[in-house]
Amino acid sequence: LDNGVSRTPPMGWNTWNTFGCNINESLIRQMADSIVSSGMADAGYKYVVVDDCWFNPNRDSAGNLQSDPSRFPSGMKALGDYLHSKGLKFGIYQVPVDKTCAQYFSSYPGATGSQGHEYQDAQQFAAWGVDYLKYDWCSPNGSIDDQVTAFAKMRDALASTGRPIVYSINPNSIHEKTGPMRNWGDVANIWRTTEDITSSWDTGQTNGYPMGVKNIVDVTARLAAYAAPGSFNDPDMMEVGIGSMSDTEMRSHFALWAIMASPLIAGNDIRNMSWATRTILTNSNLIAINQDTLGLQGVEIQNDGTRRVMVKKLANGDVAVALFNQGNSATTITTTAAAIGKSGSDFNLLDAWSGTTSSTSGVISANVPAHGTVVYRVSGGSALAGTSLVSASASRCLD
Ligand code: DGJ
Repeated sequence: LDNGVSRTPPMGWNTWNTFGCNINESLIRQMADSIVSSGMADAGYKYVVVDDCWFNPNRDSAGNLQSDPSRFPSGMKALGDYLHSKGLKFGIYQVPVDKTCAQYFSSYPGATGSQGHEYQDAQQFAAWGVDYLKYDWCSPNGSIDDQVTAFAKMRDALASTGRPIVYSINPNSIHEKTGPMRNWGDVANIWRTTEDITSSWDTGQTNGYPMGVKNIVDVTARLAAYAAPGSFNDPDMMEVGIGSMSDTEMRSHFALWAIMASPLIAGNDIRNMSWATRTILTNSNLIAINQDTLGLQGVEIQNDGTRRVMVKKLANGDVAVALFNQGNSATTITTTAAAIGKSGSDFNLLDAWSGTTSSTSGVISANVPAHGTVVYRVSGGSALAGTSLVSASASRCLD
């Protein structure tokens, strides 16, 4: 969406994956403090997104949204002011239907949605200082056309406020059952590609609830051609630092989100994250690949069911290469400079995890642990004439 924001994938933190409906203003202030003191903000994590359950279920007498009076007694404007005072940005959650999603998940009643109040609510968000709206279909009903109409209405309502607001949508997942999903880049800055993530490597499903990391990669990798500055596939908020995936799997999760130009929205409790989690989330080599200004999503050029290779062209002529082993034992994964679109005979490989460099005349290879992902930033040589990773991804999308 060409609305001036999210020219690279948004980075931040969201309440949902760890706290669900159990949120309040002091939790969010503490998290904001930790995002700053831990170095997460300096690493790029700026949007603090208050997901479902911040609402008073009822609007006021003028039809305005209100925050829950006991859990957000200072109101949302004050919360936004606090986040802004910390150099952070303020994100909020709402739905295009009649009631928010929480009605399905907990004893929380679910609050009034924006349906029929789009312009009023957009004005309210702007007045509160909102910089990011997560707009969640959260209904089993509705055709794709119904969803396009509803999501576009809020897009236009947000635009009418004049405030730059990142627009994040979650269409419902019927697309996964009916073929390749629609490209939502005309409607939103980021759009979810699957059902909700859970802290699991592989749930064995690609269109069910919930979804494991590997399963989400399977769906999202096919949609690479949709990514562009201002418009990115959203494979959901990260589970890094949550649950019991191995350190190798957590690293793969982050590396794959990085090379897929996915929003990097952490979901863990930043106040007490481990050093290992912090090290993953703040890896500056991977963040630079994710935040590259070309805004391309990594394109899968090799997948034999075990060894997968994704390639992302970068603005300075470098190319990022992810060697992803989805098998259950270590294996060597190999590609070449020519296969990633480079000509020449002298290349430098920066290993994004270790920070070490090596040189090669063309072979790009690593022994990758089970479920691991090695990422190299390849520099040197020049672009091979006629190689377009964008059009390669476009044809893949039509499969
Ligand atoms: C469904 C979304 O996919 C989740 O990320 C979260 O926003 C919940 N709704 C909140 O109810």
